Amino acid sequence: MISHWSHENQQRAQQLLDAYPEKQSAAMPLLYLAAHEHGYVSDDAMREVAALTGLSSAQVQAVASFYTMYKRAPVGRYLVSVCTSISCYLRGADDVLAAIEDEAGVLDGETTPDGEISVEHVECSGACGGAPAVSVNWELIEGLGQDKARDLIKWLRDAKPAVVLGDEMQLLFGGRKSFDWGPPEKEGAIVALPAFAPYGTAKAEGE
Ligand code: FES
Repeated sequence: MISHWSHENQQRAQQLLDAYPEKQSAAMPLLYLAAHEHGYVSDDAMREVAALTGLSSAQVQAVASFYTMYKRAPVGRYLVSVCTSISCYLRGADDVLAAIEDEAGVLDGETTPDGEISVEHVECSGACGGAPAVSVNWELIEGLGQDKARDLIKWLRDAKPAVVLGDEMQLLFGGRKSFDWGPPEKEGAIVALPAFAPYGTAKAEGE
């Protein structure tokens, strides 16, 4: 087991390996766990996941580089992702991205010098009905115009929320929404990684 991971993550890694008949199948949740441990998926982490799963380093790298949510370098505390795929593009996503870049003072793919905000464009976020869609640490906001996009960046910079919550940001900055995705969300993202917990890689409610 990876000795320099936290004890909790070592336990979760073992649970993941035990959960699959073939340990190679644990590669993706292990990469997600590695991202939680280090803030991104380092070269060392990919080698470690390869050793744990029996895959080659090249195979693990192929997985990690295919899925853009696996960050290969550190990102800011708040990762602001602007969908620029077709529905959002037609609803002004390029202008929203430009407003966010201008307000944050960095370009697409960059992080502010203080390490607080990273800006990126992403492919379809799955919220086309509420285009344009923007997410912060993968917490979604729909129907965001240029002015509200600027307000969002100011809020992140000034309020420095410890947890970002999609429902809260939707109320503060969002516009037309495609539909309710589910019951009101109580947990949010505390780092620039998705807050979901399907593999036991993040804390579940009540845990
Ligand atoms: S095109 Fe932007 S959410 Fe689908």
